[in-house]
This record gives sequence, C-alpha cells and structure tokens, in this order.
Amino acid sequence: MSDPDLARRAEKLDGSDELAAKRSEFELDDTVYLDGNSLGALPAAVPGRIEDVVRRQWGRLRIRSWDESGWWTAPERIGDRIAPLVGAAPGQIVVGDSTSVNVFKALVAAVRMAGPGRDEIVVDASTFPTDGYIAESAARLTGSTLRPVPPAEVPGALGARTAAVLLNHVDYRTGRLHDLPSLTAAVHAAGALAVWDLCHSAGALPVGLDEHGVDLAVGCTYKYLNGGPGAPAYLYVRRELQDRFDSPLPGWNSHADPFGMSPAYTPAPGALRGRVGTPDILSLLALEAALEVWDGVPVETVRAKSLALTDFFLECVTAYVPPGAVECVTPLAHAERGSQVALRCADAGNVMKRLIDRGVVGDFRHPDILRFGFTPLYVGFADVERAARVLGEVLGGAAG
Ligand SMILES: Cc1ncc(COP(=O)(O)O)c(C=O)c1O
Repeated sequence: MSDPDLARRAEKLDGSDELAAKRSEFELDDTVYLDGNSLGALPAAVPGRIEDVVRRQWGRLRIRSWDESGWWTAPERIGDRIAPLVGAAPGQIVVGDSTSVNVFKALVAAVRMAGPGRDEIVVDASTFPTDGYIAESAARLTGSTLRPVPPAEVPGALGARTAAVLLNHVDYRTGRLHDLPSLTAAVHAAGALAVWDLCHSAGALPVGLDEHGVDLAVGCTYKYLNGGPGAPAYLYVRRELQDRFDSPLPGWNSHADPFGMSPAYTPAPGALRGRVGTPDILSLLALEAALEVWDGVPVETVRAKSLALTDFFLECVTAYVPPGAVECVTPLAHAERGSQVALRCADAGNVMKRLIDRGVVGDFRHPDILRFGFTPLYVGFADVERAARVLGEVLGGAAG
C-alpha cells in the first residue's frame, strides 16, 4: 500500500520538475525503467532517422552519402555534440569503436606520451572488468608494470615511475563517484597522465574534462546518452596532447590523407587521430538522433534532479522496506554519489526477477547487488515511489 505522504510528495516533485516534458521525447511504457545506466531508453526521434538513413541515404544516394549525407565526418561531428555534456570544447572527441577499444588506444597512447623512465600503469582496483583486462594487455605491450589500486589510495601510490592512471569516474557496482578534479591533479603532480572512463557519468552529471585538465577520456553512449544497443563509444584527447597522441591502432581513417593510399602512415591532425577504420554509420547516426534530446538541457539541471531522485528513492526504501532487508552500498554524500543506487540484498538475483515481473526494471550484479539507475530525462518521482513500494512488497515489508 502506498504511503499517502510519499505519494503526495512524489506528485509535487513531478509537478515542479523542469525536465518532466522530456519524457515525451522517449518511447516509454508503464514499467518503471531503472536500467538506463545499462541501456538507455529509445528516443522517439531515432526510428524515423534510421528509416531515412537506410532508405534514402543508403538506399538511394548510396556511395554519395559519404559526402552528401555527412557520413565521412560523422565521428568528429557527433563527438562535438557530446563535448558539452562532458565539459569539452569542440575538436577533442571522436566517436567510434567500443569503450574497450578506446581504453586500449588511450592507455597505450598515454604510456607513449609519458616521459622516459615511466614504466608503471596504475589502474582502479574496482574497475569495470574490461578496463582491467585491457590495462593488463597494454602493460605487457608497453613493457610496463600494472598496479591495481583503490581510487582513494591512488595519490599515495604515484611516483616517478608512474606513466598513466586509468580510473572509472563512477563505480559501476556501487555507484560511488570518484573525485575527478583532485585525482587528476594528483596524477599531474606526479608527472603522469590521467585517463578517465566516463561510462557511468556522462549524461548524468557534470564532468568538466577541460576545466580539470583531464588528459584522455573514454565513454560509452548506450547508457545515459541513449545511443542504442552497441552504440559506438568516444575518445577524448586533450587539445594540447593531440600532436603527441601516437595511436596504437593507426588505421587509414586516422591518416592525414586517407584517400592518398600511401603505404606510409602520417597521422591526421587533431582528435581524428583517434579514428581507426570505417565508422559504423547506422549506429553513429542513430546516436546523433538520440543526442537531440539534450538540446537546451544543462547538465547541472540533470545532476540536481538525479540527486533528488536518488535521495527520494533512499527515503522511500527506508519507509517501505523491512529494516535490515537491504543495505545501501552507494555513498549517501552527494559529492560521492553517481546516478544509481546499489542495495546489497540476500538472494538479489531472484529479488530482481520478481521486481521485473512486477514492472520495476533494475538489474542484478553478482553476487548480491540490486542496482537501480536513475536517468533524469525520463524517470520521475512517482516512478521512484512505486519502485521502492514494490521492492518493499517483494521483500515482505509493511506495504505488502
Ligand atoms: C565503466 C565501464 N567501462 C566499460 C564498459 C564496457 O565497454 P564496451 O563498450 O567496450 O562494452 C562498461 C559497460 O557497462 C562500463 O560500465
């Protein structure tokens, strides 16, 4: 049963929500979708755009579309569309390949740019696994030693041998937000390069890449940026480093004169050095259409709503869920919280199945975490109240 006070508060919060109108720009149904931190919802503009790309641009214009439909320049153009969402000036982001591939490019390039005698890579010990696997391979390829270190202990682990540090901005499991400005400053004070994985922060909170002097960054576009399943990732290379960025994957798309077909490689200037091969045009252009929902949306507004949603969810969980049935592993301090709430819970896999059966979609992370992502563009406060209420019912709380 609904708590009338919480239900009234949810209604009031939805009534004063500046982003409420954005919901109509997405294809939604009557489930509460709290998994946009894994796969964002479908923006309503995407199917029509894809229809045009397939039928007209590909079907009728065919090869002409590389120029006439702007296919060739899409990786940089769409990179510039993402740039304001992560606090980057234009000309520093290219879109393409997966996050994993971009982690590889960024990390190997970072080690190559680090000064002589620097042969150590520090990696976030709690990283999303792909970053760890790739860091291990990058270390072997560059003759470096890999040191996994918890993010809070990174400043104490840095030294004259540190070449590069790879960190996740938000921990995918706990939702903990790491302090990008101070960690980046510590990495720089040690003379090393900072590489950030923004998968769980871009589109959810301000990142400030330029402001904080981040060297390289990568991120996916299928979570908070709603680019669709398998949408291409992006690579940020700070402008001052671009001339020294020596890609470990120097494909022909990053050549200064790709159609010169020269046997010798000459890198293109600027961010497009991060390109590799022929871009995945269908996915790229679906992403471009998806990014239109951000027109006129300040990231600060998104962040304010995200914190309000997660605060309200925690309050509703306290009211509806039996004491001791869940333990919140997401930090309560706003400065340390991303846009998700992770609850430790016995039999979490089955609990999540029962939630999904009842129309509340989050996800389960091994071994005991219920993960709920809050995407401020299309999740509202009534959704939050309902999700916590159903969780209380599933766990046999008073509401059940
Ligand atoms: C922090 C982080 N890095 C990387 C990835 C995955 O990378 P890819 O796009 O290569 O699958 C994820 C996926 O959820 C992630 O959360």
